[in-house]
Amino acid sequence: MLHGPNLNLLGEREPSVYGSMTLIQLNQKLRSFGKKKGIQLRIHQSNSEGVLIDLLHKYRKWADGIVFNPAAYTHYSYAIRDAISSISIPTIEVHLSDIYKREEFRKVSVLEAVCLKQISGLGLQSYILAMECLLSSPEMSD
Ligand code: DQA
Repeated sequence: MLHGPNLNLLGEREPSVYGSMTLIQLNQKLRSFGKKKGIQLRIHQSNSEGVLIDLLHKYRKWADGIVFNPAAYTHYSYAIRDAISSISIPTIEVHLSDIYKREEFRKVSVLEAVCLKQISGLGLQSYILAMECLLSSPEMSD
């Protein structure tokens, strides 16, 4: 599970857009869902593009799938796009808010094409659905 830039400020950052749940609370819910489903979960947040790329590299052999909220990098990071397409495990792009109902620049994801799926606008449920989707994905079965 990877959280991109500014998501460390969840809870105090634009609560009308992102809600009042902190990243710690969000992660607690993700961990308890993971536990229920028998998923071994590693969760990281970084504000740095390079660190996120290093994490994709680091976990490429360990993880069966990645749930990734790339935050603003979604809209312009070709380096993250290349990192996702360089690894062979399925990645799901998630967003708390609905990126299609906000500013024009958010409607473009340069990552979507290299991800298995994009889930946007469902808050916590975006992440939960992404985990469910990975669990039922044939890409994860071998
Ligand atoms: C976000 C949407 C992005 O446009 C924004 O830059 C974020 C959060 C979301 O979860 O809704 O930081 O990825």
